[in-house]
Amino acid sequence: MHIFQLIKFMKLYASSIDTDGVLNISGFPLIGPLGIYLNPHKFFKKWSSKSSDGWFRFKMQKHLVHVVAGEESRKIFFGTRDFSMQSGYGLGLGIWGDNFVPASVNHLKPLARIDLIDELLPLIIPDLERRLDWGVKGKVNAVHILRELPMAMGVKLSLGDSIGGNHADIDSIIHNIYRLTNTFRPTAKIMPWFPRLSSIHRIWAGYGLYRIITAARTKRITQAGTHFEVLQNLVDDKASVGDCVNAIVASIVAIGHNFSNLIVWLYIHLDQDPVWKSKVLSEVHSFIQDHGIARSSNIGEQLCKITATDWLGSLRSIDLCLEEAARLHGVVALARRNIGGPVGIGDSIIDTGDYVFVSLDDVHFNKHTYPEPSDFDPKRMEGSSTANFLGFGKGLHPCPGQKLAKIISKIVATLIFYKYEVKMVDKRGKRLHKLPVETKLLHTVALPKDKLFFSFQKRPTP
Ligand code: HEM
Repeated sequence: MHIFQLIKFMKLYASSIDTDGVLNISGFPLIGPLGIYLNPHKFFKKWSSKSSDGWFRFKMQKHLVHVVAGEESRKIFFGTRDFSMQSGYGLGLGIWGDNFVPASVNHLKPLARIDLIDELLPLIIPDLERRLDWGVKGKVNAVHILRELPMAMGVKLSLGDSIGGNHADIDSIIHNIYRLTNTFRPTAKIMPWFPRLSSIHRIWAGYGLYRIITAARTKRITQAGTHFEVLQNLVDDKASVGDCVNAIVASIVAIGHNFSNLIVWLYIHLDQDPVWKSKVLSEVHSFIQDHGIARSSNIGEQLCKITATDWLGSLRSIDLCLEEAARLHGVVALARRNIGGPVGIGDSIIDTGDYVFVSLDDVHFNKHTYPEPSDFDPKRMEGSSTANFLGFGKGLHPCPGQKLAKIISKIVATLIFYKYEVKMVDKRGKRLHKLPVETKLLHTVALPKDKLFFSFQKRPTP
């Protein structure tokens, strides 16, 4: 008998309807249905289309996961205090320990304030400029460069002056964060004692991060830093070494993890869409002219003089493109865990300890709200109602980094497009003819499968 027939015969991959009318997907004991591990996007698409209202549930390891759909259930998902975001993501990312997001990421929340962003920009822009200084003509790895920009910013905002201009340490932290986040898979919690390569990577990355972060902490204890640094807040709170390391890693991940991958998609779409690329280019050139920026070696210094409010109110097409990229390439699901008493959603009860997932496809690929949902059409994000766009979350945990992410995306676009003519090419130097392949991940923005490069030429100085 074929293995798949056997699985069906043993009812390990079958569905039934529970008493509350919700589709229940069975799976292997102690693991659950394999689809959630192998291809969560396909798994979600398959089962939400098979259920009448998009709801289904399944056991993942020993936990019950409810996938809910529809506006009413999303209201409860985003507005119920006992639905913890902190412990919601641990299961799907395979995090050891209960709280994936330590409470200390609250230190990042003030970054939503525009006056604070104003203070930060002069610290961030010189590093962005250094990373975008490619020379006169050539080919650079677009995915590496773009991904590193938000991560480097995350390191600076978390560790501030303690890491300062030490580029080797910043690069080492970024490298170890990649190593660590590459192990964020739901499979990591299945037989965690079983020796595997990813566990070695996780431990090795953890050690590398521990070494640099504890050195930065020691330095910070003797030398006060600036009030918005996460590290300074932790030192003021007298956080232990372990808590400091966890909190710093969590804050770099919160800042850079999904932003890094999303900015790659933003440039892929701009490369594939000449209309929007020329819109962005013409906005960048007018912006530069309006601010009297001269094409010189110190463009970064000149950009530092522009206020955060000014960045936020200008270059509108980049906001729209970023939001549209977030709609198209968002994660498969947002997650919560019920840490309080039973909560009713519709006819269903979410018991204490159960997980609740909201599918982003259910909102972002809804044909009524977003006609031709697979097309890149940033115009549709103009005046988009927040009920129909969850790219930056909502309710009790909206993303505090939304303004910062938009401003940084604009600064990066200004630095790249004002300095260079760029085209995206594959490893053989050929232009892309279609979007690269993407396999969406459960709680992480996926990267394109292919290697991508910028072929660039410096624009002549007028
Ligand atoms: C394009 C870039 C970004 C995207 C698409 C994004 C998206 C999101 C989303 C969807 C959520 C809500 C998750 C949920 O409800 O489960 C969230 C929360 C969060 N984001 Fe972002 N984010 C981005 C950049 C940033 C940046 C730059 C920061 C740094 C300040 C940041 C810090 C956070 C934090 C701390 C939370 C948790 C908020 C809380 O606990 O209430 N994000 N983000």
